[in-house]
Amino acid sequence: MRRSFLLCLASTSVPLVLGAAVFNWPDPRLDTLDDQLYRPFFSAASRLALNCTARGGLTDTNATVAAQWLRLAYHDVATHNSTTGTGGLDASIAYEFNHLQNVGVGMLESLLDFATAPNEYVSMADVIAQGVIHAVIDCGGPIIPYRGGRVDATEAGPETVPEPQQDLASHIASFQAQGFNQTEMITLVACGHSLGESSGVRKVDFPLIVTENASTGIQNFASTLGFDNTVVTEYLDSTTDNVLVVGTNISTRSDLRIFSSDANVTMQRLASPDTFNEVCADLIGRMIDTVPSTVTLTDVIEPFDFKVWNTMLFPRGGSLAFLATLRIITAPGLSRTVTMFWTSRTGTFCPAGGCSAQAFEVTTSDSTLLGQLKGIPSFDLHSFNPSIDLATSISSFWFEVNNNDGSTPFIVDNNGANYIIEQDVLLFDPRRSNFSTGGTTMVVGVKDSSTNANVTALSTLTGSTTLPLPSRDTVVFEVDATNPPADGYTFYAATLSRKAISNSIHATINGTAYSLWVPFTSAAGA
Ligand code: HEM
Ligand SMILES: *[C@@H]1O[C@H](CO)[C@@H](O)[C@H](O)[C@H]1NC(C)=O
Ligand SMILES: *[C@@H]1O[C@H](CO)[C@@H](O)[C@H](O)[C@H]1NC(C)=O
Ligand SMILES: *[C@@H]1O[C@H](CO)[C@@H](O)[C@H](O)[C@H]1NC(C)=O
Ligand SMILES: *[C@@H]1O[C@H](CO)[C@@H](O)[C@H](O)[C@H]1NC(C)=O
Ligand SMILES: *[C@@H]1O[C@H](CO)[C@@H](O)[C@H](O)[C@H]1NC(C)=O
Ligand SMILES: *[C@@H]1O[C@H](CO)[C@@H](O)[C@H](O)[C@H]1NC(C)=O
Ligand SMILES: *[C@@H]1O[C@H](CO)[C@@H](O)[C@H](O)[C@H]1NC(C)=O
Ligand SMILES: *[C@@H]1O[C@H](CO)[C@@H](O)[C@H](O)[C@H]1NC(C)=O
Ligand SMILES: *[C@@H]1O[C@H](CO)[C@@H](O)[C@H](O)[C@H]1NC(C)=O
Ligand SMILES: *[C@@H]1O[C@H](CO)[C@@H](O)[C@H](O)[C@H]1NC(C)=O
Repeated sequence: MRRSFLLCLASTSVPLVLGAAVFNWPDPRLDTLDDQLYRPFFSAASRLALNCTARGGLTDTNATVAAQWLRLAYHDVATHNSTTGTGGLDASIAYEFNHLQNVGVGMLESLLDFATAPNEYVSMADVIAQGVIHAVIDCGGPIIPYRGGRVDATEAGPETVPEPQQDLASHIASFQAQGFNQTEMITLVACGHSLGESSGVRKVDFPLIVTENASTGIQNFASTLGFDNTVVTEYLDSTTDNVLVVGTNISTRSDLRIFSSDANVTMQRLASPDTFNEVCADLIGRMIDTVPSTVTLTDVIEPFDFKVWNTMLFPRGGSLAFLATLRIITAPGLSRTVTMFWTSRTGTFCPAGGCSAQAFEVTTSDSTLLGQLKGIPSFDLHSFNPSIDLATSISSFWFEVNNNDGSTPFIVDNNGANYIIEQDVLLFDPRRSNFSTGGTTMVVGVKDSSTNANVTALSTLTGSTTLPLPSRDTVVFEVDATNPPADGYTFYAATLSRKAISNSIHATINGTAYSLWVPFTSAAGA
């Protein structure tokens, strides 16, 4: 019935980027990654390195945050062994701070920047990779495509990060093992050491390399602040101060040995700014996509045109409250009207074309610099809060979007599949739950529960200040004494002493298993 209604409408689909990931709701991983890449609220990685800023603070005040993130990522990747398919960008760096190769406060500082971003579906390694692509554009460099799906290691990798005092043959062998040939090694080192002013070699960590008095504590790789090829041009015209090229200690002139290892052919090629940006985007992209052979990465994640976000269904005063937001990329000049439709779970409460409601609120939300570089000024959030008939409930929903510009309204229906609400037996209740900073009480409603339901949550918690990898905890729900049964639901509660980043709730009710994904967006943005 409803399909024929849809077919009457002209298709006004937005062109897809070829090979880009497709978002079929619900998909907690793509959902989180898209938020973190394109909406500033959801990840510090999209905010802290903006303007190629220095960290500030007491420990290493002259450090460019972006440079710290890029070095962190390379040192994590450098444990990859392409023969065995082990190591790569897997956050094993968190266990490797005691390796001398990883000296420097920037390593732990960087990981702490990212500590609240990973959740059950997004690894710390995925967030480190986000840090790299944000770092590069924050300093004026090229856009690097982003894929997700990395898996965090549970132990340290081998001590295979190249060091300045090693000879050229060792460096060629290291990069070969990491998956890069000699030309690519030259390029990747030049790209990595491009962040220039306020990035470079620290006297405190490398006293045998920085033998001069460096007034800022850092001997810079190049004279300009941003991500550009002055590290190359200053090398070629012999004006460089890069201590890994001209340092008085000849044994630690690793950049000189590497850059000149093919008679400067590659460096001369990188003297073109366009070539530099192009090959750096490619190689840094390959670097962050260097993962253990057991890991499969997603397709490239472009901003999703339409995204259903923040859905909640819970009993309230004789009906079911349903909250949902449709996110649409802002089109300047367009003032859209969006209507939500839904179908009943049982019976014929809703008419053939579905029940419907208008958005109660439309707000605009910033996009990250990455989003802006992709032509996205902001996102429009169309929010709905219809009351759903308690007895007949809801089984699916979709939207009709009217651009109000004379074009035919079009349907947004999860790529034709509709937004399906799998069940209404186990519901997370945001109104009865309490997310105070001191702790969290989660409340779920279980339908028709005259027998005990077994309800647990797998909570993802922020790591410690010395090992900032997320941890997991299972909490058990008990019947909630403070919330008596109502509207056909019995309430169960669980208390966490700390604020979780996210939870997935699992229940067995009368022998049937149910699951719910509950992102705590407020914690993720902290
Ligand atoms: C033979 C290979 C390499 C050697 C021997 C080497 C060596 C070094 C050394 C000694 C430092 C100084 C660190 C400090 O004082 O904090 C440094 C900094 C840095 N390296 Fe490398 N590096 C190599 C390759 C790379 C690669 C492939 C990348 C990334 C693509 C990279 C990115 C960086 C960055 C961004 C910094 C600056 C960090 C900061 O200022 O906080 N390096 N490198
Ligand atoms: C970056 O620069 C903009 C414009 O000057 C400023 O508003 C913003 O606060 C800066 N961000 C950081 C993180 O320094
Ligand atoms: C990679 O693994 C192979 C096989 O175990 C080993 O022979 C080789 O030394 C490793 N390479 C590095 C750089 O550790
Ligand atoms: C490295 O690989 C690139 C791309 O395949 C190729 O163009 C280049 O010649 C190779 N360099 C060496 C030293 O093998
Ligand atoms: C130069 O660096 C090497 C390797 O770190 C070190 O062994 C040597 O003592 C240094 N030489 C001087 C003169 O500092
Ligand atoms: C470097 O600093 C030390 C200690 O502050 C000082 O004794 C020395 O003269 C300085 N050397 C140069 C070349 O400025
Ligand atoms: C940062 O640089 C300034 C000079 O620009 C210097 O006085 C200060 O000591 C440096 N701070 C650190 C922590 O190295
Ligand atoms: C490479 O360039 C450097 C810096 O200009 C120069 O010192 C060196 O002689 C060059 N090497 C070759 C083989 O051309
Ligand atoms: C939420 O929890 C805090 C801390 O336990 C408590 O002070 C507050 O009253 C609670 N709020 C509600 C609405 O239950
Ligand atoms: C679970 O079983 C009880 C007892 O048979 C029944 O009353 C209740 O409706 C069932 N609940 C669900 C959600 O199936
Ligand atoms: C409840 O479910 C959890 C997780 O599925 C399971 O480990 C536990 O044994 C169950 N408890 C009971 C009493 O069935």
